[in-house]
Amino acid sequence: MKTKYFHITSPDQEEDIRAAAAILRAGGLAGIPTETVYGLGANGLDGAAVGRIFQAKGRPQDNPLILHIPEAEWLRRYCKNIPPAAWRLAERFWPGPLTMILQRKVNVPNAVTCGLDTVGVRCPDHPVTLAIIRAAGVPVAAPSGNLSGRPSPTCARHMEEDMDGKIDAIVDGGPCGVGVESTIVDLTAPVPRLLRPGGLPLEDLRAVLGEVAVDRAVLSPLDPGEKPRAPGMKYRHYAPRAPVTVVSGEGRRTARYIRRNLGDHTGVICFEEYRDQFPGCQVRSIGSAQDRGEQARRVFDALRSFDGTDVTAIFAQCPGDGGLGLAVANRLKKAAGFQVVELGEGTP
Ligand code: TXA
Ligand code: MG
Repeated sequence: MKTKYFHITSPDQEEDIRAAAAILRAGGLAGIPTETVYGLGANGLDGAAVGRIFQAKGRPQDNPLILHIPEAEWLRRYCKNIPPAAWRLAERFWPGPLTMILQRKVNVPNAVTCGLDTVGVRCPDHPVTLAIIRAAGVPVAAPSGNLSGRPSPTCARHMEEDMDGKIDAIVDGGPCGVGVESTIVDLTAPVPRLLRPGGLPLEDLRAVLGEVAVDRAVLSPLDPGEKPRAPGMKYRHYAPRAPVTVVSGEGRRTARYIRRNLGDHTGVICFEEYRDQFPGCQVRSIGSAQDRGEQARRVFDALRSFDGTDVTAIFAQCPGDGGLGLAVANRLKKAAGFQVVELGEGTP
């Protein structure tokens, strides 16, 4: 299949918006920009189209998709028993990097929810994609646009790397401003539960909701056979071809540890302050140690960039858990299959 490319920088490019929307309405697949990562979109009411998303990605059949809607009011179309907390969150954080898990109505195809009685819904903060969804007049089911297991795409080039020739269209709407996927909160649990840390910090969720439980799968690997609440959390994810080791702790200490353990073809993901400390290595800075927004924007590109090089092992410095650090650290640790070296206060 020949993939059609659109460059849409503004929702005023009405002809292109209509053309992209028509592809979705007709059951096609389109790579679409969002503020978090690029998504692989299909008409979320068309089970067959949604099925093709799974094929194109090589996505396991038990991993449900998020429905993207243009405004909170659309929640009523696809969800039932919507708690007041959902409206409060939508009011405060939508459009934005927050996905809510709610009870679904029967009009949501099983292909989207993989048979669950809940559905994940979000309103993305990207003017081009909002215009496409409105023009299509249907909710857009979209996982991240990467091949299953690879780092999520944060620009149209990443989408092209993974999906060129496999899908009908890719809409280039510029690089993603957030860079990690949405925060997922389950509002069907007695206490709201964080299923995936993401572009909206946990602290912000707690400021609106009060207590928010953090699912175990966010912080640690699952036990063999353990069933995660977000099915996607059980898969190896975000992984470059070379194995990753995350080194967590204070920056100077982690840089020293990495330096002492360098091999011949080592790649290093580090904070900007330390980039000169790994001579002879392929080094990718993800921004200043203080700047977690920048780290979020750059982490997936850094992970991707080692594929096609001769790097055989990757070390990564890792931020602490505050703010966006929780999401960045989670992506790095998942990329590492939770292979983490913790350097506490006492380590030299
Ligand atoms: O930022 C994002 O959320 C991006 C952009 C494209 O919107 N999308 C995204 O989708 O990250 P995906 O499919 O890569 O990740 C969705 C996660 C998966 O881990 C899936 O298991 C979980 O959401 N999920 C979806 N529906 C769910 C449900 N009803 N209950 C629990 N988890 C659900
Ligand atoms: Mg994904």
